[in-house]
Amino acid sequence: MDALTHAIEAYIGNSTTKETRADAKRAIELIFMNLAKAVHDGNDLDARKNMLEAAFLAGNAFSQSYVGYIHAIAHSLGGQYNVPHGYANAVILPMILEAYGEHATKKLAELAIVSGTSRDPDPAVRAKAFIQAIKEMKSVFSIPDTFKEIREEDIPMLAKQAAHEANPLYPVPKEMNAKELEQYCRKLMEDGHGN
Ligand SMILES: [Fe+2]
Repeated sequence: MDALTHAIEAYIGNSTTKETRADAKRAIELIFMNLAKAVHDGNDLDARKNMLEAAFLAGNAFSQSYVGYIHAIAHSLGGQYNVPHGYANAVILPMILEAYGEHATKKLAELAIVSGTSRDPDPAVRAKAFIQAIKEMKSVFSIPDTFKEIREEDIPMLAKQAAHEANPLYPVPKEMNAKELEQYCRKLMEDGHGN
């Protein structure tokens, strides 16, 4: 799920190259075809080999084209509560893709085709289907939508750190300030207002 987040954040950011776009797309295609297989059967060496390649390609993409707010918030939670990095990204991923709204629609619609999720002619429908497919993937892997670790009193600091990491370093599709990020950190709280 970390590799998937690398590929998606690199692809939807505003600082891509032809090579990083191709690497991210291939990584996403491989992840959608192989991750569930590798999780369900650790002896499926083909699936694991393909995931190894996907992780490498996604890493190549983000090391040149950066990540975004999903990683920024995951790093914040990792630093404060030791939440494992890939797990944190997986929990946060669909929520922030939805938060980007129309700013990420075109690119997410392209990823819907790459991932085999939807070929609907309407890009907005395809983008939504892609996010929904990630939610379903999370559900299959029993990954929740919230963190039990988040404390209300920590939210301003968590959001501030995430905003500081992302701006101006990450070429995110849509900039969000610390106040906006607080609202998303609150949604990630167990018993929070969002989930
Ligand atoms: Fe990562």
